[in-house]
Amino acid sequence: MSLADRIAELEAEVAQAAAATAEEVERFRVAMLGRKGAVTALFDAFKEMSAEDKKALGRRMNELKQAAQARWEEMKAGTTRQGAAPVQQGDPTRPVATEQTGGLHPITLVRQRIVRVFERLGYTVSQGPEVEDDHHNFGALNFPPEHPARDMQDTFFVESPEGLALRTHTSSVQVRVMEHQEPPIRTISPGRVYRNEAISARAHCMFHQVEGLYVDKGVSFAELKGTLDHFAKSLFGPEVAIRLRPSYFPFTEPSAEVDMSCTICGGDGCAVCKQSGWVEIMGCGMVDPAVLANCGIDPEVYSGFAFGMGVERIAQLLYRVPDLRLYWENDVRFLAQFSDGSFRN
Ligand code: DAH
Repeated sequence: MSLADRIAELEAEVAQAAAATAEEVERFRVAMLGRKGAVTALFDAFKEMSAEDKKALGRRMNELKQAAQARWEEMKAGTTRQGAAPVQQGDPTRPVATEQTGGLHPITLVRQRIVRVFERLGYTVSQGPEVEDDHHNFGALNFPPEHPARDMQDTFFVESPEGLALRTHTSSVQVRVMEHQEPPIRTISPGRVYRNEAISARAHCMFHQVEGLYVDKGVSFAELKGTLDHFAKSLFGPEVAIRLRPSYFPFTEPSAEVDMSCTICGGDGCAVCKQSGWVEIMGCGMVDPAVLANCGIDPEVYSGFAFGMGVERIAQLLYRVPDLRLYWENDVRFLAQFSDGSFRN
């Protein structure tokens, strides 16, 4: 290799040199500038050269040596600066920054608001297991084994001798309450439910429901309607109206779907209500006498109503969140918007 080529090689090496630790910096110094280092060896060879070559290469050689020295100084400063104790800067008398803390999840906030409306009406809060047996999720609620209504709720089954499943609705909790409590019963059951659905902006395989149940002597459909009207106005404002559309659920008879005047357009028609002026908010009905009997309550003496709503659905109407998936991503930029003041920066 000619001396000129060797100089070029070392120039590149110096330019690319990097060191993370003090040992690496020292290794570079020894390899380049040490007594047996590459640059030092070059100068030894230089001494043997003709005057003509010396003239041609002398300057480059000096520049290489200076570059190697400068690089070494730089690397030395870089590694020692990192390792040194941090220098205190700024005004030490300034108040400390408060720590960032979390806030309640929007679904939790909405669940609490729903629960509060019913608590004020004298409802208790009840809960049941998320892994449920067939009796509580289906059988007692009037879904016979081969009944096609079971297909309405795509179930996640759990491999178990008892035929357990993830509950598909919180209606299972009304069965548990009625089995253990004498009327009068006024209870709401918030909780997580699961359905085998493809995840999209409009559907998720897990979501939240709040179930309501009122059983006493002489409970009427008019009371159901009045209760739900009060609920809608409490949550969305006195100007909203509700309407009931006949529907079908195995556990209620008669059954209805509850619509509320669209809060986005005020009932004029928009994309959210698909130009109808109404948005669906829940299902409801009079508890089927067979369900009361299944749970040990005499339907000749007692009657009741029940309703069930999706918390994400109510949250969507309250907050206008277009995509359900946002509730599960836990992106702080999304969550902080629902802060009840507990999010601080
Ligand atoms: N369980 C129903 C569902 O998940 C919702 C529901 C409808 C609950 C009517 C009720 C009711 O209590 O009366 O789709």
